Amino acid sequence: MTEPAKAKVDMEKLVSLCRRRGFIFPSSEIYGGLSSCWDYGPLGVELKRNIKDAWWRAMVQQRDDMVGLDSSILMHPQTWEASGHVQGFSDPLVECKECHRRWRSDELEGDKCPECGGELTEPRLFNLMFKTFMGPVEDEASVVYLRPETAQGMFVNFENVLNTTRKRLPFGIAQIGKSFRNEVTTGNFIFRSREFEQMEIEFFVKPGTDQQWFDYWVEERINWYAGLGIKRENLKLRPHEKEELAHYARACSDINYLFPMGWAELEGIANRGDFDLVQHASSSGKGLSYYDEEAKEHIVPYIIEPSAGVDRTFLALLCDAYDEDEAEGEKRVLLHLHPDLAPLKAAVLPLSRKEHLASFAKDIYADLRRHWMVGYDDAQSIGRRYRRQDEIGTPFCVTVDFESLEDKQVTIRERDSLRQIRVPIEGLEATLRAKLGGEDLFVLPEGGRVWKE
Ligand code: GAP
Repeated sequence: MTEPAKAKVDMEKLVSLCRRRGFIFPSSEIYGGLSSCWDYGPLGVELKRNIKDAWWRAMVQQRDDMVGLDSSILMHPQTWEASGHVQGFSDPLVECKECHRRWRSDELEGDKCPECGGELTEPRLFNLMFKTFMGPVEDEASVVYLRPETAQGMFVNFENVLNTTRKRLPFGIAQIGKSFRNEVTTGNFIFRSREFEQMEIEFFVKPGTDQQWFDYWVEERINWYAGLGIKRENLKLRPHEKEELAHYARACSDINYLFPMGWAELEGIANRGDFDLVQHASSSGKGLSYYDEEAKEHIVPYIIEPSAGVDRTFLALLCDAYDEDEAEGEKRVLLHLHPDLAPLKAAVLPLSRKEHLASFAKDIYADLRRHWMVGYDDAQSIGRRYRRQDEIGTPFCVTVDFESLEDKQVTIRERDSLRQIRVPIEGLEATLRAKLGGEDLFVLPEGGRVWKE
């Protein structure tokens, strides 16, 4: 993959678009916001759901070697002892003796405070897990943690899944859910936040086949991003050096994306070996193994873990989709979002608000809404309305004009090419379905014609 030097959009533009169009707001904004927490607005929540649905469909529903899970966020505290998180999930922190700001010592250049040049304390380890209390008594015995990864829910359910699904190796468990980390250095919008969502797979394989499955998953996951429209030149694989491997990992590669602030991790793919099952078996006293019928012996599977972030995928998709060009003599901002991901699949735009045309257009809107998330916009000029839809990535606009009342036809305008066709309303749903599925706009349905090249 060749490396472009710089992302084509800066973060400010993305933040501003997200704010302006209701994709993402700062959390609890009326109180001044809460650091590194974000709320997904009406369009953001649709895009986010579409990302998760696309992942779930491809990784779970379309495979016969994967099952889903939705484990609870709060888990038995022993989980985090066995996983190594209580001991080892920490960042080394230093504090400035002058201004008292805290810094991650592994990210600092030099030995002075970057803010004021003051002297720094010795590094101290700071655990990233959020602690809370379960039940009415707030004491050490009732401490529980907000999970910092969804992975552990899948390890502790290994036996439940095995017994109830009768899956044979190799097979995987997948889940999507919230995770929490009391990150020291946050920022870059939703790239690193304290509450975020993960889409994780724990794929159980026979020891000895782990390298082959690791390679398989690296390729599979890169293809997944590319299939959703992310340009391959903006994706880069970064294998970890031995010294930087997490305590559980035998090998790890990050899929990096060229974000506005530079190349950074979008997803991590780790070969966790048998670390997790061995740890949980010894901590719980349960034999977390698998009976290999060929070898006639119990084995502990190795685990390959493709671990993706929903929020980072959201950000990468926005960066990749963002574009500015000129249409009908005007500058426009547009998102080239894949139709599967676009918050709205189409928008119905009546040329006028006049009652008979509006009610006609609303019937079309009501009909399409039974199939997809569709918008309706009758405010301002048609040009302005097209711009508004382009800016939120709506692939098609359906324009209803006075002629539509007579000929029972509407025009469909394609976001990226600006081409238009005129098609019978009767077959509108089928036509849109074909176009959303990737059929060229100029492949016309019966009775359809080219409207604008
Ligand atoms: N179970 C392995 C694991 O959690 P990780 O590399 O720490 O590995 C996996 O996290 C993915 O989760 C990252 O590649 C990233 O996409 C996402 N992620 C991790 N921390 C995040 C944070 N603070 N904010 C947003 N996304 C985060």
